[in-house]
Amino acid sequence: MANLDAFKEEQVVEKTVDTEKKVKIGIIGTGWIAGAHIESYQKLPDVEVVALADIIPGKAEAFAKQYGIEGARIYSSDEELIANEKDLDGVSICTYNCQHAPCAIHALEAGINVMLEKPFTVTLDEAVEVMKAEKKSGKILTIGFQPRMGPNMQMIKKIVESGELGKIYYIQAGGGRRSGIPTPFGTTFIEKDTAGIGALGDIGCYSLDMLLNAIGYPKPLTCTGYTSAFFGTDPKYYANHPEYAAKFGVDDFAAAFVRLEGDIILDFRISWAMNMDTCGDALILGTKGGLRIPSTECWNGEFDKPLTIYKKVAGREVSYQIPLIESKSNLFVAKLRSFVDAIKEGGKAPVPSSEIVINQAIIDAINKSANIGKEVEINIPEV
Ligand SMILES: NC(=O)c1ccc[n+]([C@@H]2O[C@H](COP(=O)([O-])OP(=O)(O)OC[C@H]3O[C@@H](n4cnc5c(N)ncnc54)[C@H](O)[C@@H]3O)[C@@H](O)[C@H]2O)c1
Repeated sequence: MANLDAFKEEQVVEKTVDTEKKVKIGIIGTGWIAGAHIESYQKLPDVEVVALADIIPGKAEAFAKQYGIEGARIYSSDEELIANEKDLDGVSICTYNCQHAPCAIHALEAGINVMLEKPFTVTLDEAVEVMKAEKKSGKILTIGFQPRMGPNMQMIKKIVESGELGKIYYIQAGGGRRSGIPTPFGTTFIEKDTAGIGALGDIGCYSLDMLLNAIGYPKPLTCTGYTSAFFGTDPKYYANHPEYAAKFGVDDFAAAFVRLEGDIILDFRISWAMNMDTCGDALILGTKGGLRIPSTECWNGEFDKPLTIYKKVAGREVSYQIPLIESKSNLFVAKLRSFVDAIKEGGKAPVPSSEIVINQAIIDAINKSANIGKEVEINIPEV
């Protein structure tokens, strides 16, 4: 038992950082998630948030006051911030999805390192344009997937890489929400012009990353996708804001079969709203073993139950659990620490575009296939 208990606690290695020279950061978009960025940056002693931008008048000023950084310079757009801040080491792009690509391109073209919130972009074409700007700039572009920092999420990849499951041939995405269309601070997540994609991009990108990162992001080949919006467009769904229904321009449910290189099939489903508690557990099937990952929304890197491995041993069917690791680190802080470290050390992007473009290509293909009602081929242009 003592041996098993040793797995439960993550070894937290305290890192000493050089605080002599502060890394200068700007935040573009001062909405909901920007709050998590500033709170995390404020925990890093070698970072100074020196500039803020938001296109809504007064919003960045109020943000600066709320977080006690009244000294930060305030701008009314990403372009104004980038044109005036000549000394920035990096920016956090915290705008709604449709503004990810233009803001990332502007920053990279100005030679600024970028932490871009998830999902990467709305379309594959946009992701490719951002990657071209990344390549030309030689700067760091990392995508904001904090679940990757979670020790239990990392365990999924370790299990696959250990060979314990054999050759992987089927992965099934699960999780999702029964009643969780995100409208806590308005409608930027549900309007076509701001969000561009719904549950498919918002939490689907996490669900895809959890499985595809574990199996090494194989190239996607073809996709049959489906999306719907029965709940988001129904005024009765919203207890206090029936008017949101008319603004709903994205998906609230998506499903797909995606063929991946290496003769692997991805069975995908994601939901913001449905008449079901969960789309189920996530599964990875291999020739030597299967892995059950308890239903999760993925975004916080947590499961409430352990992972289970199923195998046949000496002709008998057995299953065993991988004890949950009690993480002591804040995943959001870890995500921004990894970005700042990459800037300071001239390192690689912690969550690189070369992987997440595959995630984006699948999201894009699900949308395209859903629109035309047929299977589509997936081709990711070389950058
Ligand atoms: N990693 C996570 O856990 C997590 C959680 C929530 C949201 N997100 C992602 O963060 C992004 C933002 O979500 P949110 O909930 O904060 O949205 P939000 O609507 O609350 O905030 C976005 C802000 O960006 C501003 N903005 C838009 N374009 C701009 C531009 N060109 N220049 C300056 N400001 C601009 C808007 O005015 C708005 O204030 C989304 O892409 C979302 O998917 C990530």
